[in-house]
Amino acid sequence: MVFYQRSTLATLLFLGLIRFSVVECRRNLLLESYVTYPAINCRKHTALLTDFGGNGDGIASNTAVFQAAVQNLSQVADDGGAQLIVPPGKWLTGSFNLTSHFTLFIQSGAIILASQDAGEYPLVEPLPSYGQGRDGPGGRFSSLIGGSHLTDVVVTGDNGTIDGQGSVWWKKFNRKKLRNTRPYLIELMYSNQVQISNLTLIDSPSWFVHPVYSSDIIIQDITIRAPVDSPNTDGINPDSCNNVKIQDVNVVSGDDCVAVKSGWDEYGIQLGLPTERVIIRRLICNSPNGAVIALGSEMPGGIRNVRAEDITAINSQSGIRIKTSPGRGAYITDIFVDGMNLQSIDCVFWTTGSHGEHPDLSYDAKALPVIDRINYRNVVAEDVKMVGNMGGIDGDPFTGFCLSNVTIGFGTQQENLVWNCTDVSGVSSNVIPEPCDVLAEKGPSDCEYPPDPIPIDIVELKSCSFST
Ligand SMILES: *[C@@H]1O[C@H](CO)[C@@H](O)[C@H](O)[C@H]1NC(C)=O
Ligand SMILES: *[C@@H]1O[C@H](CO)[C@@H](O)[C@H](O)[C@H]1NC(C)=O
Ligand SMILES: *[C@@H]1O[C@H](CO)[C@@H](O)[C@H](O)[C@H]1NC(C)=O
Ligand SMILES: *[C@@H]1O[C@H](CO)[C@@H](O)[C@H](O)[C@H]1NC(C)=O
Ligand SMILES: *[C@@H]1O[C@H](CO)[C@@H](O)[C@H](O)[C@H]1NC(C)=O
Ligand SMILES: *[C@@H]1O[C@H](CO)[C@@H](O)[C@H](O)[C@H]1NC(C)=O
Repeated sequence: MVFYQRSTLATLLFLGLIRFSVVECRRNLLLESYVTYPAINCRKHTALLTDFGGNGDGIASNTAVFQAAVQNLSQVADDGGAQLIVPPGKWLTGSFNLTSHFTLFIQSGAIILASQDAGEYPLVEPLPSYGQGRDGPGGRFSSLIGGSHLTDVVVTGDNGTIDGQGSVWWKKFNRKKLRNTRPYLIELMYSNQVQISNLTLIDSPSWFVHPVYSSDIIIQDITIRAPVDSPNTDGINPDSCNNVKIQDVNVVSGDDCVAVKSGWDEYGIQLGLPTERVIIRRLICNSPNGAVIALGSEMPGGIRNVRAEDITAINSQSGIRIKTSPGRGAYITDIFVDGMNLQSIDCVFWTTGSHGEHPDLSYDAKALPVIDRINYRNVVAEDVKMVGNMGGIDGDPFTGFCLSNVTIGFGTQQENLVWNCTDVSGVSSNVIPEPCDVLAEKGPSDCEYPPDPIPIDIVELKSCSFST
């Protein structure tokens, strides 16, 4: 398919260039754009948003256009699937859902502009693992781009943009004027084989990318930008998800760059869906009010087997942060970090066992989380205020920390207490400055990092294409 199109184009171009009589043909071909892109699956059918009456003036609403396009193209899901091309322009829209065996391709110069009209985001039920909306007890506004029970869905581009225009939502949230939870930018639920790549995402009303109850997920080559004082603008939040790759992502935002989650208190315990088998590689994070990678605080489905490699941060609150509370139950175990380069960080190692934030008063205060086997190796940090603020839970210590080859340098704002360790235990090797007593026991010179890749890490993308 790819080769056929390529050779046809080359042949026609060749003919067009040598035969002056086919000027018309030549001009069309030169105006055409031919794009190749990497994806989990290529599609047989191609359509442009303008085929469905899309208006890219940035003023007209395209909500019905996106919905009609996806609805129409869902008809060919079982016949090779479809790619919907969003051409250059400003495409204002409210919430719409994707479909299976489908690619949304946002071209360079195209901006999907999120409507600021709350009426464009119909209210939906709270997530079962949260019991209620995250911002308040009401429902949830639909995400800008959503989907549920899908398989094989791609949102990509050649660095096209999705602009959440979140400022109106941040103002309402900060003034406590919202009864319902703000929209997320992209949320896929109960889906598998998901790819989100080669995009710029800006100013989400709240979290940017939220895969939940989903598996086999690739999120890569993404730029995320929100003001560093915008509320809860987490970058990427895999939530009760399995087999996830997050790679080559650059985030500047108001909250955690990546936050790994699995539901909220008794609702998450009841659903019991963990987030497991996650690789986060080459993340660059700038988030003065958030963690580079947070594990929790919502984690009652459990979090295990999360790996982070080659992590860079500039000006963030903490490195990898573990947040939990009595009432969450479950576990955070088998966490492996290899290679962090951190610059201007308040606290490199931060664990909290008393995060609080409960959905309601029905949580079980006796449901205590197990935090164990947390490995960090090859960490360099400069301009740090505090090395480790590591708290566990009284009567439920956090165990099995391993720190090796860690070198921390301080800035002018160094705290008096650079390690503060309570209810935690572990081992260390080659850590500068010398760790707190409960981590001082000599450990391996290299803390563990699993040699075998998780399955999603060995999936090869195909070379897909279209011409317009
Ligand atoms: C939608 O799909 C049908 C096939 O079921 C097709 O005939 C029709 O032209 C499509 N509509 C648009 C606007 O492309
Ligand atoms: C999108 O899908 C969700 C979940 O199935 C549904 O509740 C919502 O109504 C759909 N939204 C639109 C605009 O179709
Ligand atoms: C997507 O990003 C990858 C890695 O940077 C790059 O190789 C590829 O060409 C990009 N694809 C498009 C369509 O821009
Ligand atoms: C994509 O666009 C953003 C915003 O303009 C830019 O910062 C980023 O470097 C671009 N990424 C690529 C791969 O060109
Ligand atoms: C220690 O960590 C740094 C930073 O990741 C790395 O450059 C260096 O090679 C590591 N040293 C050893 C002995 O592994
Ligand atoms: C030290 O840790 C304890 C227990 O987590 C906490 O209550 C206290 O505020 C911490 N002290 C500092 C200076 O952070």
